[in-house]
Amino acid sequence: MMGKLIKNVCRAFWFIAATMMLAALSVFLFDPYYGFFAKSAQDDGRRQRGQELYFASGCQACHGDTGNEPVDPGYPVIAGQPAAYIERQIRDIKSGARSNGLSPLMQPSTLTLSDADIAAIAAYLTRDR
Ligand code: HEC
Repeated sequence: MMGKLIKNVCRAFWFIAATMMLAALSVFLFDPYYGFFAKSAQDDGRRQRGQELYFASGCQACHGDTGNEPVDPGYPVIAGQPAAYIERQIRDIKSGARSNGLSPLMQPSTLTLSDADIAAIAAYLTRDR
């Protein structure tokens, strides 16, 4: 009698524990904001948009198709650096906060880019990291 009760309580306990673990796992994997799959799908979408903006803005005319082949030895290689760094440089060149060297040459092609556009381009260019 007592043994059966203990058995049932144990069974209920394992059932609840397993359900909770399954729920936690599915949030971890599928949550639209924090889930593993959702996040990588979002990142892919942003990189894709960054690539489109990179070409639509004419960046490749100076930095090359991949950002790794500047058309002039005086222009920098821009791919593969940390995203936060790339993002800051584009924003500063756009605003004029960075106007050293040849950066005024580049400024016109940044003027129509929003902050979200710049973040997307940075996500595209940092892909080698
Ligand atoms: C007319 C040529 C030209 C175009 C077009 C151009 N850039 Fe540049 N870019 C430069 C030059 C030159 C520099 C370096 C400026 C300097 O001398 O400091 C630079 C610097 C940068 C840097 C900073 C690199 C570093 O290591 O600090 C980034 C990032 C960048 N460009 C991204 C872009 C993006 C994104 C676009 C398109 C929206 C773009 N550039 C369009 C010429 C260009």
